Amino acid sequence: MTAQIIDGKAFAARVREKVAGHVARLKEEHGIVPGLAVVLVGEDPASQVYVRSKGKQTVEVGMNSYEHKLDADAAQEDLLGLIEQLNNDPAVHGILVQLPLPGHLDEDLVINAIDPAKDVDGFHISNVGLLGTGQKSMVPCTPLGCLMMLRDHLGSLSGLNAVVIGRSNIVGKPMAQLLLGDSCTVTIAHSRTRDIQEVTGRADIVIAAVGRPEMVTGAWIKPGATVIDVGINRIDAPEKGEGKTRLVGDCDYESCAEVAGAITPVPGGVGPMTIACLLANTVTACCRANG
Ligand code: GUN
Repeated sequence: MTAQIIDGKAFAARVREKVAGHVARLKEEHGIVPGLAVVLVGEDPASQVYVRSKGKQTVEVGMNSYEHKLDADAAQEDLLGLIEQLNNDPAVHGILVQLPLPGHLDEDLVINAIDPAKDVDGFHISNVGLLGTGQKSMVPCTPLGCLMMLRDHLGSLSGLNAVVIGRSNIVGKPMAQLLLGDSCTVTIAHSRTRDIQEVTGRADIVIAAVGRPEMVTGAWIKPGATVIDVGINRIDAPEKGEGKTRLVGDCDYESCAEVAGAITPVPGGVGPMTIACLLANTVTACCRANG
C-alpha cells in the first residue's frame, strides 16, 4: 500500500480563507477587528521564525497583530506586567506567549496569568480543565489541527483505536482528550511504554509527538492506519552538501508511507495547520468577547 498524503498546507490555506471571511464580516457588520498579541522573550532562533510567521499570517487574514519582544533576561514582574496590560486591552482578543521561556521564568505562572478568555493557546489551567471535562474551552492549536485533518480524512472517529506517542502538555495530553471527545479508544504511549510497536501496531490512528527524528517506522504501523506526524526535527543532511540540514518528522516517512493508509508529510502536514488554528482561535475569542 502507498499512503494517501494528507496535505496540511492546502488544508491550512482553506482554514485561513474561512478565517479571513469571518474577519471581513466582523469588520463590515460590527466594526470589530480581531487582534492577536504575541510575546517573545529572548532570541531563540526557532521561536523568532515562528513568531514572525504568526504575525505575518495574522495580518494576511485581516486581523491586527501586536508583537512584544522582551530581552532574554527580562524580569518575571515585567512579563507579568505586560500580560496584565494585554489582558486589559480591549483591542487584544488573543494572547500568546511563545514557549519555551528562558529558564529563570516560571512558565506555569506566566501562562496562568493570561486571561483564560484570551488564551488562544489553550494552555491556561482553566482551559485544560474545561477541555478535560468536555466543556467549551480554548483548544490547543496543534492538536486541534490534527483533529481537523483526521475528521476530514476519516469522517467519524467513533470507536477507532488511537495511539498518541508523547505526553506533553502542549500536544500529547490535549490530543488524547480531543480523541476521547470524538469517542476513540485512546492510548498514550511514551518513553517508558513497554513493547511500543505492539501498542502502535493495533492502532487505526497513530499521532507521533515526541520530538525524536524518524523514530516511528513502518514496522510500527498497522496496514491502512492513518499516521499524523507532529514532529519537526532538523537533522544533518550531508547528501545535500557539507553543513546542510533538512527537516524530518518523528516518523520515518518512506517506510511508514508504504504501510499506512494515509500520512501527513513533514514539512507541509501538521505545521501549517497549527498557525491556521491559532488564527481561528483568535476569531473565536473575539466573537465570544463581543457576545
Ligand atoms: N512553542 C512551540 N509550540 C508552541 C505553541 O503552540 N504555543 C506557544 N505559545 N509556544 C510554542
